[in-house]
Amino acid sequence: MIYLDNAATSHPKPEAVYRAADAALRAGGSPGRGGHTLALAAGRQVMRAREAVARLFGLADPARAVFTASATEALNLALKGLLRPGDHVITTRAEHNALRRPLAALERQGVAVTWLPVDERGLLDPAAVRSALRPATRLIATHHGSNVSGALQPIAELGEIARRAGVFLLVDAAQTAGVYPIHMGRMGIHLLAAAGHKGLLGPQGTGLLLVDAAVDLRPIREGGTGAHSAQLDQPAVFPEGFESGTLNVPGIAGLAAGVGFLVETTPERIRCRELELAGALLDGLRGRPGVKVYGPERPEQRTGVVSFNIAGMDPGEVEELLDERFGVIGRAGLHCNPGAHEALGSLALGGAMRLSPGYFTTERDIEEAIRGVAELAGH
Ligand SMILES: Cc1ncc(COP(=O)(O)O)c(C=O)c1O
Repeated sequence: MIYLDNAATSHPKPEAVYRAADAALRAGGSPGRGGHTLALAAGRQVMRAREAVARLFGLADPARAVFTASATEALNLALKGLLRPGDHVITTRAEHNALRRPLAALERQGVAVTWLPVDERGLLDPAAVRSALRPATRLIATHHGSNVSGALQPIAELGEIARRAGVFLLVDAAQTAGVYPIHMGRMGIHLLAAAGHKGLLGPQGTGLLLVDAAVDLRPIREGGTGAHSAQLDQPAVFPEGFESGTLNVPGIAGLAAGVGFLVETTPERIRCRELELAGALLDGLRGRPGVKVYGPERPEQRTGVVSFNIAGMDPGEVEELLDERFGVIGRAGLHCNPGAHEALGSLALGGAMRLSPGYFTTERDIEEAIRGVAELAGH
């Protein structure tokens, strides 16, 4: 099997991730649930994981690294915990449903939203963001890397715009955390949402929201926090006030091991490797008669995500045939992001076929995938 669906979830994981998740599951104990040996050990393990992710993304206070079940949950917490009716938000029309839907729900409750277009390559123009600022603007919210076009948005420039305007910047880094160097302080990011199970190489069921000290966030879920238990109102205390319910300790332990692997390898090297692989894939697909490849031309403007269509074929059929005939696993359709497909011109085609290499992909995998697409395209 040739796994090229790392944009959905990375596979395989480093060996250390399997070992850490297994060990945590066997160890037992939940942080904040009792003062016994097992609970304390689990608490220390989760604290070390917080420190590791805070360090990786340049967040000064590790207590403000909140563990969630997914990037979706992190984005819901960021948007619903920050915004109130009357606030204005600037975002794009090419957001994943994880950001688009909670924001649309808030719009129905009185939050004003400017949905800016991205161009036919999937890129957002920072000048359009500057022009959309209003006195009521509270937040700029955008993806970093597109899960459809692979386009990388100019986050540092948006951070500078946000800083000058005195508004917050929320970044959906589901596609870039772990595969692209991100530093919240240096890039001007106030809220960073990430999946734990993609580029960070952790297990499914993990995600993160990192919150800068300047942001006054409200919890959006009430429940047990393991501390402040006599209080009726949900405590807005980092991190436990935002993590009600028993934590996914095996998942977090696996995620910490994934982050350990990344730090050792360095996000810079991972980015380089991914660009090599995506570059080879793009070179092999571009210019082939009947194959339309989407996204920016220049490698520095993209992630490892490569989406394309074959003339006359439904993307779902391409997915099925690549899997059945060549053992190549990718994902077809709208990828929970109709707006991105609209910008690329692939919405009416039922979306596109997406191949996304990861750190463990080999050159041979890429060659096989290209051979498969070439055969399906009839050459
Ligand atoms: C850009 C983007 N945002 C958000 C998400 C949601 O991530 P999760 O499945 O961890 O909620 C994804 C996952 O596909 C994504 O690609």
